[in-house]
Amino acid sequence: MRKKIVAGNWKCNTTLQEGVQLAKSVNDLVAKEGAADVVVVLGTPFTHITSVVSAVDTNRIGVAAQNCAAEAKGAFTGEVSAAMVKSTGAEYVILGHSERREYYGETSAILNKKVALALENGLTPIYCCGEAFEVRNANTQNDFVKTQLDETIFTLSADDFKKIVIAYEPIWAIGTGVTASTEQAQEMLAFIRGLIAEKYGKEIAEETSILYGGSCNAKNAPELFAQPDIDGGLIGGASLKAEDFLAIINAY
Ligand code: 13P
Repeated sequence: MRKKIVAGNWKCNTTLQEGVQLAKSVNDLVAKEGAADVVVVLGTPFTHITSVVSAVDTNRIGVAAQNCAAEAKGAFTGEVSAAMVKSTGAEYVILGHSERREYYGETSAILNKKVALALENGLTPIYCCGEAFEVRNANTQNDFVKTQLDETIFTLSADDFKKIVIAYEPIWAIGTGVTASTEQAQEMLAFIRGLIAEKYGKEIAEETSILYGGSCNAKNAPELFAQPDIDGGLIGGASLKAEDFLAIINAY
């Protein structure tokens, strides 16, 4: 059975103290009331990871970085390598987020280096894909997402691909309050699963966790998560409030 995953992406929010407090609140709520079969992940700023790892029960809650360097190490001022991330106790790294692609020029070639380094260092990539509004408007979202995957994680060996979690995040739904409709989200995730089946076989496709992200909240999560191909969510804004995040974790 593939895993159900609810991952928070805090983005560039919270001071260290606020982040540790948020992590503790999530930890306490999840310990008391969290659905036992849902994997919970907190995607924190780099500066917070070590403290968040110490503040939570890491047998229950995984911690993610939101990025890693495309180089293993060396003279790359300001970069944080996959090995550094791993050494903090983080288990996951969010890669290919549309904000990184758009604002920091992350191309498929750069992402391939990051994914390879993440895997080499034993991190699980949460690999994001998703189209902009114009692409959706032109009804070419399937081709767009297929190309994003063909150029990146679909170049991996089957053994490496099995270690990937995919998050489909339509850019027009991120932070806008406009979530994809349940049908749009299910349709795209089923399409992605079909592509995986074509490339790696049905068994691997059935085992791959594919998440939806984009204005997912406590209210719309139950309907989204009830869809056969939606294995959880990558949550931005609503992951910054422990109670809201818990409600999403318990939305299955
Ligand atoms: P929102 O949930 O704030 O729309 O953000 C989604 C997202 O980008 C998660 O990575």
